[in-house]
Amino acid sequence: MVAATVRLRPGATIGATDKRLFGAFVEHLGRCVYGGLYEPGHPTADARGFRRDTMALIAELAPSIVRYPGGNFVSGYNWEDGVGPQEERPSRLDLAWMSTETNQFGTNEFIDWCRTARIEPMLAVNLGTRDGDAARRFLEYCNHPGGTALSELRKQHGWPLPHDVKFWCLGNEMDGPWQMQARTADEYGRIAVETAKMMKWIDPSIELAACGSSGRNMPTYGQWEETVLEHTFDHVDYISLHTYINNYAGDVPAFLAAPDLMDGFIEEVVAIADAVAAKRRSPKRIMLSFDEWNVWYRTRRTPQDRNRPGWPVAPPILEEAYSMADALAFGGMCISLLNHADRVKVACLAQLVNAIAPIMTETGGAAWRQTIFYPFAQFSHFGRGTVLRAEIDCERYDSVYYDPRGSQDLRFPISAEYLKLAAVRDEATGGVTIFALNRHPTEPMQLKLDLDGLGLRSVRAARQLCDRSLDATNTAADPDRVRPGLLSGATISAHVARATLAPASWNTIRLGTAV
Ligand code: AHR
Repeated sequence: MVAATVRLRPGATIGATDKRLFGAFVEHLGRCVYGGLYEPGHPTADARGFRRDTMALIAELAPSIVRYPGGNFVSGYNWEDGVGPQEERPSRLDLAWMSTETNQFGTNEFIDWCRTARIEPMLAVNLGTRDGDAARRFLEYCNHPGGTALSELRKQHGWPLPHDVKFWCLGNEMDGPWQMQARTADEYGRIAVETAKMMKWIDPSIELAACGSSGRNMPTYGQWEETVLEHTFDHVDYISLHTYINNYAGDVPAFLAAPDLMDGFIEEVVAIADAVAAKRRSPKRIMLSFDEWNVWYRTRRTPQDRNRPGWPVAPPILEEAYSMADALAFGGMCISLLNHADRVKVACLAQLVNAIAPIMTETGGAAWRQTIFYPFAQFSHFGRGTVLRAEIDCERYDSVYYDPRGSQDLRFPISAEYLKLAAVRDEATGGVTIFALNRHPTEPMQLKLDLDGLGLRSVRAARQLCDRSLDATNTAADPDRVRPGLLSGATISAHVARATLAPASWNTIRLGTAV
């Protein structure tokens, strides 16, 4: 049995979670859009072709914002191809995923889908094959009320009101050699600042995210952020971060420790952004947009591998079947995001449906929840509030995490506590939700929470996600194999809560102020 003691105090807080921390990502990639969100003719499709079964599962996840249309895809995208009468839209080669893009779903359909799902849209502009001119025209088409050729074109296409999209990404992963027209940090910084200037002249209410490195393991990481922010500091609001953690090595302890690298990544980018501010003696703080994060390795190829003959339409690619172990590592990533709520204001689970996603569908058939669905749903529902700073006393273990991306195979030694935890107070009720990951593969954990001063008196609900096999997955044939069950035996008395967490388990304990 591992013992862990956690101390929480009412005044010791990290910060309030921004609504946009609970976002997701939809790219024109494989069957994410076609056969995922959109499938005219599907038995559950509405008149616009939006799958209602997928929409219902997305409502359970309750993402606050969705990034679109990419991803690598956006670096070759002509937004004009995806608007206007569907029968007139061109099919194009998509060099990001070596597919054919039919453009039957485009910006206006995405906005309608978001409005139906009650989700804020986030758009990315193409700064790969295109530049600031295309971006400013795209923004004018979307957000300008009327009286100009592009805003009138939107009206003519059937959308009389402006889309009023507030959050825009200035390109995607522009440091990556796999990106169409990748750039150096100076090249990207220059084009990003000129684009940002024009976009804010058109609509000063928008918020802009500049591309950070496409991963912490990139050879130019750090220098890239500094150079890009030196160019863009006065004109952007966010810098982006992307992380996909892996278990290539089949080393579960290292895999479950990997979210701690995400903590370090966030803290490093904050330090770089604040150093750029300090050099300018500026009180402005650039916030972080973690606009791609997930577990991804089984269906990941080397970025250089573009072998996909035949230019298929919506091929079944990146359809990662998530295991119980993946859900645990994923839950650890949710905890990392919560514990940096002061600076990470936006985050997007990559992605939403079929391609590295919490929701899977069969084209023409059923939709179901993957293992990672559950930690995200709990994070999204109960992570909204004020994150408390937890003082944790728990045994540690050492591991080495292997990360093959980049120019060389990297190995990161990690010393991690067996317990990874975040605590979020709902300011409306005073209730606190504890998100707790027991990373010990074989030992249960006796968790003691010292809650003096928080006024907590009851255990409202306690749920646990675990399985006798860390390899267990949910499939079309067995969609509910992995799902949360009750965490029994959680108690609270005299401001001390106690629970026993199963080995290798993800837990949510909701504590209330009423007796
Ligand atoms: O989410 C899949 C891909 O991962 C995205 O297109 C890209 O931005 C990242 O490399």
